Amino acid sequence: MSDASNVPWTIRPERPEDAPLVDALNEAAFGPGRFAKSAYRLREGVSQVAELAFVAIEKAELRGSVRYWPVSIGGHPALMLGPLAVKASERGRGIGIMLMQHSLAEARAQGHAVVILVGDEPYYARVGFSRLPPGRVRFPGPVDPSRILGLSLKAGEMLNLSGEVRRAKIDDAVCADGAGLG
Ligand SMILES: CC(C)(COP(=O)(O)OP(=O)(O)OC[C@H]1O[C@@H](n2cnc3c(N)ncnc32)[C@H](O)[C@@H]1OP(=O)(O)O)[C@@H](O)C(=O)NCCC(=O)NCCS
Repeated sequence: MSDASNVPWTIRPERPEDAPLVDALNEAAFGPGRFAKSAYRLREGVSQVAELAFVAIEKAELRGSVRYWPVSIGGHPALMLGPLAVKASERGRGIGIMLMQHSLAEARAQGHAVVILVGDEPYYARVGFSRLPPGRVRFPGPVDPSRILGLSLKAGEMLNLSGEVRRAKIDDAVCADGAGLG
């Protein structure tokens, strides 16, 4: 669990009015090329998991954001973590790790079983993610297999998971960046 008692920022749920700032943060962190990535394909037309969207606020300013999307893996529900972004000037202070610790604890409390993501294993291993066996979980597009990571929120759940990662469900008229809060 995160110890939020002695840090100068607050982690709180994302609010609808945060969405433009979060979108701008993601734009600055990932650039327009992010929309071409496999992870974004899985978000198209799908609302984010609104109750797992958190922001880090310090001095009334947005410092970081984490969002999750629902996916289906081999027909089983799972969460996909991301985007996770911290303002460039505030990196290396522990904000990213705390956003993940907080949101993952909430995801576990809400009964979610597994989380996957595409990212750097040395970083995400700090909150318990590990590489999945090559070929076990397949994204709809080219993804470096060494960057496909998973975490069981319920013991052993990751072992049961294999197959194609697909969009969980299609919602009406949502876009990948600001979805689900309106
Ligand atoms: C990745 C990101 C969210 C990390 O946020 P952060 O608040 O700086 O991270 P933290 O302060 O919690 O953790 C920093 C530590 O993680 C390490 N770290 C950060 N990114 C890393 C990476 N990609 N691989 C390995 N280690 C990494 C730092 O070196 C630092 O190590 P230290 O504690 O030994 O000094 C932030 O750098 C960011 O927004 N990057 C651009 C967007 C991005 O790449 N998001 C992740 C998508 S995969």
